[in-house]
Amino acid sequence: MTFSGQEIEKLQLQAGEHLFMHASQVNDWKGNLNIFVKGKGVWVEDIHGNKFLDSMGGLWYKAAGYGRKRIAEAVYNQMLDIESPPSMSASISQIELSSKIASLYHDNKARVFFVSGGAEAVETAIKMAKKFSILNGKPNAYKVISRRYSYHGGTAMAVSLGGALTADPMGPLMPGAIHVTNWNSYRLPFDGSPVDVAIKCANEFEEVIKHQGSDSIAAIIAEPVSAAYGIQIPPAEYWQRLREIADKYNIVLIADEVITGFGRLGEYFGPMNWDVKPDITTVAKALTSGYAPLGAAIVTKKISDAFVGGDKETFKHLITFGGHPIACAAGIENLKIFEEEDLVGNSKKLGFYLYEKLNDLKKHKIVGDVRGGLGLLAAVELVQDKKNKKVFSSDFNISKILPDLIYKNKIVTFRAGDIISICPPLSINKEEIDFLVSGLDESIKEISKILNHN
Ligand SMILES: Cc1ncc(COP(=O)(O)O)c(C=O)c1O
Repeated sequence: MTFSGQEIEKLQLQAGEHLFMHASQVNDWKGNLNIFVKGKGVWVEDIHGNKFLDSMGGLWYKAAGYGRKRIAEAVYNQMLDIESPPSMSASISQIELSSKIASLYHDNKARVFFVSGGAEAVETAIKMAKKFSILNGKPNAYKVISRRYSYHGGTAMAVSLGGALTADPMGPLMPGAIHVTNWNSYRLPFDGSPVDVAIKCANEFEEVIKHQGSDSIAAIIAEPVSAAYGIQIPPAEYWQRLREIADKYNIVLIADEVITGFGRLGEYFGPMNWDVKPDITTVAKALTSGYAPLGAAIVTKKISDAFVGGDKETFKHLITFGGHPIACAAGIENLKIFEEEDLVGNSKKLGFYLYEKLNDLKKHKIVGDVRGGLGLLAAVELVQDKKNKKVFSSDFNISKILPDLIYKNKIVTFRAGDIISICPPLSINKEEIDFLVSGLDESIKEISKILNHN
């Protein structure tokens, strides 16, 4: 696929005039937007014909890698058969995908409420938890406890839960959104051993519950590993304690697995690493590896049984394109690839390998911490001073300079500032990890020189 200089210029002009890119100010990409035209495995090709390794798997979702023709064919065939069924009926793809997901989940009797993406999955889970609580004798339970610096999506309720730092000011948040201390393995928020601190962090949920009254709390929501907060992997005891607290006070435990669901942490679902069974799990991204927009709230039987009865028990929640049949067809084919190629096993195995290789980067004066080892999700944190873990001030402009340096080393990333996040396709192999780490090594060497910290 080749494009003339004129064609490229025209596209750049059109983008500059008409495209409103997400999470940017409108002049950010004028004239220099990266345009990609092809992908295969972990590699993508831009409009000029240059090849890059995608170290972030799209926006944390390209689990099965790029260019899977069979997923495209599954989508095409679904479109030819019936692209979407009449209202209040189902396609075969929706039925089969829900049953496949339940078979992979900790509760084989789970139900799957399909939506179009992660934020909708979170909104669905929260509404469901609130209604479940009301139906279960807690008519005043409208509050939800989440963690500071988390991210649960860009819609209004999800933003309220997400610690708000990544969001634009919008005035008052959702009433009843309460935030507690988040887990941070590099900068422990309290004194003590990591396990003691993790338990202290989890216990903050209990303190809030006691203070507010358990009858007012519908749900606890957290990511098994917070990507937004810089790939924060807690000790097993953290989620185990969250489960205990939720059980003790009859509160719905929601695992937001929009990033971690479907193998990212080396198990199909993250809390399986710690033998924890959430009541509701939200998923999106890797469910289709980004071949079509799809999300879901996976709901245990315990929760869905509350929605049996009449009008009072009806879950009055509807999203027109939630679980679109063509997205479900993509999901089914995607999960077939997962099984045939053991992508979850690869995530576990090569997650260790990636983590080991990244640890070599600690030789750089500015690499303060490397986090990973639980599946193919990792972070390298840059600091101005290793001893006191001081961050570089924004004057150093790292998040502007570093992505370009990494790009020159043939790696594409959008998450490279003080924290370089790494979330490659689960289909990555050792040679590709070597390429990725050596490109990061080179880029860190270059930025160390620019920052005068080598
Ligand atoms: C943990 C988590 N929850 C929810 C979302 C929102 O997903 P979406 O952007 O598909 O709405 C994200 C997005 O990155 C996420 O990381």
